Amino acid sequence: MSDIGPLDLALKEAFEIKKDRYKYENLGRRKTAMLIFFNNSLRTRLSTQKAAMNLGMNVIVLDVNQGAWKLETERGVIMDGDKSEHLLEAIPVMGSYCDIIGVRSFARFENRKDDYEEKILQQFIKYSGRPVFFMESATVHPLQAFADLITIEEYKRKERPKVVMTWAPHPRALPQAVPNSFAEWMRAADVDFVVTHPEGYELDPEFVGDAKVEYDQMKAFEGADFVYAKNWSCPGVTLPNQYGKVLDDYHKWMDWTVSSRQMSVTNDAFFLHCLPVRRNMIVTDDVIEAPTSLVIPEAANREISATVVLKRMLESL
Ligand code: CP
Repeated sequence: MSDIGPLDLALKEAFEIKKDRYKYENLGRRKTAMLIFFNNSLRTRLSTQKAAMNLGMNVIVLDVNQGAWKLETERGVIMDGDKSEHLLEAIPVMGSYCDIIGVRSFARFENRKDDYEEKILQQFIKYSGRPVFFMESATVHPLQAFADLITIEEYKRKERPKVVMTWAPHPRALPQAVPNSFAEWMRAADVDFVVTHPEGYELDPEFVGDAKVEYDQMKAFEGADFVYAKNWSCPGVTLPNQYGKVLDDYHKWMDWTVSSRQMSVTNDAFFLHCLPVRRNMIVTDDVIEAPTSLVIPEAANREISATVVLKRMLESL
């Protein structure tokens, strides 16, 4: 977030690009963006490719787990297993074919320190010889948070809206990257920001800072102008031994699924989610299908946030 600078200027640029997304179509001529995916993606993959094409760039996409050699990431390992190549050779090779590298590498939940130090991404920064941007790392998803901010700015009905980020149930352990980034960006934006989640899901202070945390979900929703739903696994802040775990059987928490019950106490709030979303786990069909659901324009704004970020990176090459 600190790399994007003042948010008002970033938003101004985003709306300028939204008006004419090909305004800088010559900026990336003869430049190549390489997008490396260690994990699945629909929106990030497509929107970032589109953004690079808007700027006239060539794009190479690599799914590391489909067609590339299996990569060893630890130094000192005797490579007699199924991994044929080490990241320490693969990264500079990738860097030699491009000008900018985007990387998606989720938290592995093996070791909190490794995840929160961004062990994989830091190796790309150190060894690729290229500027690197994160397409969702172990701890952050800035392209998503920037798109969320653009969407809030577009739809807000008052100068300083109340934005509530709510945890919602999910059967699998999900990373904290999206809520971390959303919290970080909302704290920097001019909004009244509240986070609500069950006890044990406290986010890392580096991201959530002094944001208001309300453990009573219904109370948090009162008067909300925007509701941002997301599941995340235990961040290991108050429960270090539970890092990356789902704390309870999700059936116990189904009353946290965002439904008309919670939405009824809001200020006719808009609903946001980064997608993909599990319906009737995170949000009910009627809420996500309501006219106040912004999930599609929010996803469309991923193209805009990525275009701004790539434009800035091209300008500083
Ligand atoms: N929101 C988001 O990053 O979507 P994908 O995982 O499909 O890229």
